[in-house]
Amino acid sequence: MCGITACLRAEGSLEPILTGLKRLEYRGYDSAGLAVVNDNRIGLVKQAGEVDLLSKLVESKDIEGTVGIGHTRWSTHGPPTDLNAHPHTDERGSVAVVHNGIIDNYAALKSHLERRGHRFASDTDTEVIPHLIEEELDQGASNMEAFRAAISVLDGTYAVAAVFSDEHAIYATRHGSPLVFGEGDDEWFVASDVPAFVEYTNRVRYLHDGDYIYISADGFEITDADGDAVDRPLEEIDWDPETAGKSGYAHFMHKEIHEQPESLRRTIQGRVNSLTGTVALDEFPTDAFADVEQVHLVAMGTSHHAAMYAATLLAARGIPAYAFMAGEYSLARPPVTDRTLVVAVSQSGETADTLDAVRRARSAGARTLALTNVVASSLTRECDDTLLIRAGPEIGVAATKTFTSQVTALVLLCERIVADATGASSRESRDLLESLSRLPGDVQAVLDTSTAEAVARAYAGSDAYFFIGRGIAHSVALEGALKFKEISYEHAEGFAASELKHGPLALVTEQTPVFVVFSGRHDEMTLNNAKEVQARGAPVVAVTSRTDGEIAELADHVLSIPETHPDLAGVAANVQLQLVAYHAANLLGRPIDKPRNLAKCVTVE
Ligand code: F6R
Repeated sequence: MCGITACLRAEGSLEPILTGLKRLEYRGYDSAGLAVVNDNRIGLVKQAGEVDLLSKLVESKDIEGTVGIGHTRWSTHGPPTDLNAHPHTDERGSVAVVHNGIIDNYAALKSHLERRGHRFASDTDTEVIPHLIEEELDQGASNMEAFRAAISVLDGTYAVAAVFSDEHAIYATRHGSPLVFGEGDDEWFVASDVPAFVEYTNRVRYLHDGDYIYISADGFEITDADGDAVDRPLEEIDWDPETAGKSGYAHFMHKEIHEQPESLRRTIQGRVNSLTGTVALDEFPTDAFADVEQVHLVAMGTSHHAAMYAATLLAARGIPAYAFMAGEYSLARPPVTDRTLVVAVSQSGETADTLDAVRRARSAGARTLALTNVVASSLTRECDDTLLIRAGPEIGVAATKTFTSQVTALVLLCERIVADATGASSRESRDLLESLSRLPGDVQAVLDTSTAEAVARAYAGSDAYFFIGRGIAHSVALEGALKFKEISYEHAEGFAASELKHGPLALVTEQTPVFVVFSGRHDEMTLNNAKEVQARGAPVVAVTSRTDGEIAELADHVLSIPETHPDLAGVAANVQLQLVAYHAANLLGRPIDKPRNLAKCVTVE
């Protein structure tokens, strides 16, 4: 996830671009840059680091221009360096481009362009775009023709904005990444999100996939992929500046919960070969995991629940796999060999306990893999390999979209490990990967139909809240309870459903609603546990895709999830539980984005 912005304004575009980038920092903040057009030249300023650093750098330069583009980056291709920061240009500086998204076929395009003599300055996928445009310009195409021709060969998701040195105009388009147009009085904006320009105008038009927008001093024109004019309705936004930063949501956590269809799409994008029904993780060479004997997953908190989820999946497919709390790993010292793969799961990549576990594993000879959201984090530097979850920045302290992206990336990694270890793609893998491609839509369906707020209201003021499940649903139950307690400050506990009779049942009363997570595996046994708690008077909230039949009949409330592969059901179920926790905490007026005593990143053991 990155943020892009563009502005055309007679008084100068620099200030709105920098303001816009600051407002878009929630979409990325590891590098920032901008380009403005003046005197048939593109003035380019960019560097690794946050927008404030860019602003200082801009102050020290003598640049201005009525038209320009800007970018704030969250790295996916290439580390955060000055060269990898956007905008990217062609070699002679005739066009500058900013991009949000991932170009799946960039490697093929790059080698084609290199064969034709283009020299690349960065490791990014984006840089192919200005070079493609340059190719077209060299053949005599107009700016518009060159822009459209370059875009037409891209596979993947993108929102792109470009400026040309010889024209005071903005060219932009989208396919799978957000782009919104802001219409002021003689000033126009294009951005990934409304907050980028809400201080200048509240009049917006949301662009659709395939739309192109061209803005010049004479006005703007929106066209479709064929070049035909399209009309996108003008809407007026009434957000105050504080709400604008959260795109209209009251809390970052609520916004991030709703971003999950998009973040999951990014996690999956380009990583499944739908023709062969196999996982394509370019990060690792062929047969990279063929000699793995056992997998240790080390993590803390929410990430530990994602690790548990993955360990369950791997073990079920015959790969010995164990999830450890990273803080216990160094003390437990489980035996490792050079055929042990240690997967460190951490959204921040900076958690002290997890780093410590990795160091201990490395010193014992294990191979280490970082599964993280932050490209240049300590974990990526200390591990042998990295798999990015691509969730985009998460501001709320409570992890939501990073958990679902961790689980999804781990599902892909597990499939790859199993395929390398067994040497074949199975029918089961193909079914799972097919369901995986529907996961963003399934999560959207949960967000569109969830009755979690009503459930939170119904049980407000209870003595305690319990969460139970089996297999992967056990890890989802633990995560549901963690989310609930950390933001509502109410007593919440998660248990393996099988554990109930061995102690926790003593806590169950009519004042303790029990959230029962059904994944589609072992449901009959879990149903028996639901009956046990109900017999003690506890209200049952079933999280299930089986909305008719015995589960629904027994439950006091059902939080429904779409029918999917049982290995993935936990993702949609988790989203329901995120919403329950959010609404419960909101009803209590808790400071949801910054729960007391907690920090986003725990860098001490
Ligand atoms: C809870 C939460 C924490 C983190 C834990 C590990 O919502 O976010 O439990 O999961 O502190 O952090 P990372 O994933 O950064 O290693």
